[in-house]
Amino acid sequence: MAERVIPLVDQRSRALTPPVPAPGAAERATGELFDTRARPLRDLRISVTDRCNFRCGYCMPKEVFDKHYRYLPHSDLLSFEEITRVARLFMAHGVHKIRLTGGEPLLRKNLERLVEQLAALPTVDGRAPDLTLTTNGSILARKARALKDAGLSRVTVSLDSLDDAVFRRMNDMDFPVADVLAGIEAAQAAGLERIKVNMVVKRGTNDHEITAMARRFRGTGITLRFIEYMDVGATNGWRMDEVLPSSEVIARLQAELPLVPLAASTPGETAKRWGWAGADGRHDPALGEVGVISSVTQAFCGDCNRARLSTEGRLYLCLFASQGWDLRTLLRGGATDAQLEAAIAAIWRQRSDRYSELRASLPPEAGGGGRRIEMSYIGG
Ligand code: GTP
Ligand code: 5AD
Ligand code: SF4
Ligand code: SF4
Repeated sequence: MAERVIPLVDQRSRALTPPVPAPGAAERATGELFDTRARPLRDLRISVTDRCNFRCGYCMPKEVFDKHYRYLPHSDLLSFEEITRVARLFMAHGVHKIRLTGGEPLLRKNLERLVEQLAALPTVDGRAPDLTLTTNGSILARKARALKDAGLSRVTVSLDSLDDAVFRRMNDMDFPVADVLAGIEAAQAAGLERIKVNMVVKRGTNDHEITAMARRFRGTGITLRFIEYMDVGATNGWRMDEVLPSSEVIARLQAELPLVPLAASTPGETAKRWGWAGADGRHDPALGEVGVISSVTQAFCGDCNRARLSTEGRLYLCLFASQGWDLRTLLRGGATDAQLEAAIAAIWRQRSDRYSELRASLPPEAGGGGRRIEMSYIGG
């Protein structure tokens, strides 16, 4: 096996200063904002903690995220009020979907209070946002009901294997799979809708579990998505030979159970959808669908409408960015709503990021290289 080089650098050190117009000169949001590639701003992912109780090797490898790792101090974190204010301004610019992430978002105390505040915000067409959360499911069984009551619309649970031994190895905390499965059941019982399960596929680690996972969730109303292992961050020792291309995932499934391609449900979607076919060869909605997220072999930057707000209030325009715009200094420095809206507009309008599309042609040190932000810091 090739030796892994894991650079130990603090990925959070580089902050960009947002442009701020004088009070009075700031233009207000119009409900639509486009970047330099004509991509609208639609989706805001908010990281509420940089901590996690798992140590998945592809995200928070133990050798880096050990007892010496310095997590953000509480005073650096955006408060729920600050997050809600920023989210309201993003929604005025056209954001419809809000995803809470981490680290593990359910580790943030009283998260349901934030959910309640965000669920009450209006989109530009006066509706509630599509409010969701990505969780490792470890404490979901305890929290599902309160989250639903607070106004969470749906939930996505990360689950890489049904085999207890494989699962314990992958989370590297000896955490049993049964508890995550109980979390998924609790989410269903609480009435959370359109539940998704995300499986990161690593060749040689859990790819033998693909069909078992598919069979488990087929016909349950839960959508399983297979994610190509990505070179995100700088600590996971990513290697191309551990990526199983989505085309191969589909081929393996097709060999056992028939699937038909489905059209995209919304522009800018991460996953390509495939429906389980019934006896007539057509998609049977009762059997449901699966998705493949192929950011390595088939980049989807062309219509990427996602912005990411880090735990301490930096705005990142790409999962592979190495620098984020420091909104917290504006928030805490007394900026008005109009000034913040103008700053967000100026930042989005100059956006040109499309890392996954460029990956193949970039030298290893480019695109943020060893200084890229970590997924545990910015969230999926
Ligand atoms: P739905 O609205 O439920 O379909 O969610 P989603 O697919 O937009 O978001 P989710 O957080 O479930 O994304 C699943 C996985 O896709 C993430 O964990 C990442 O691995 C990957 N992913 C999400 N967004 C991006 C992105 O903008 N770029 C890249 N390269 N990968 C992404
Ligand atoms: N490649 C692909 N997905 C990743 N995630 C974290 N690290 C990676 C990676 N290297 C995603 C997984 C997980 C979510 C929290 O982040 O989808 O479910
Ligand atoms: Fe935690 Fe999710 Fe990262 Fe695993 S992938 S270490 S569960 S944040
Ligand atoms: Fe969007 Fe960057 Fe992901 Fe491309 S690599 S889809 S631009 S977040």
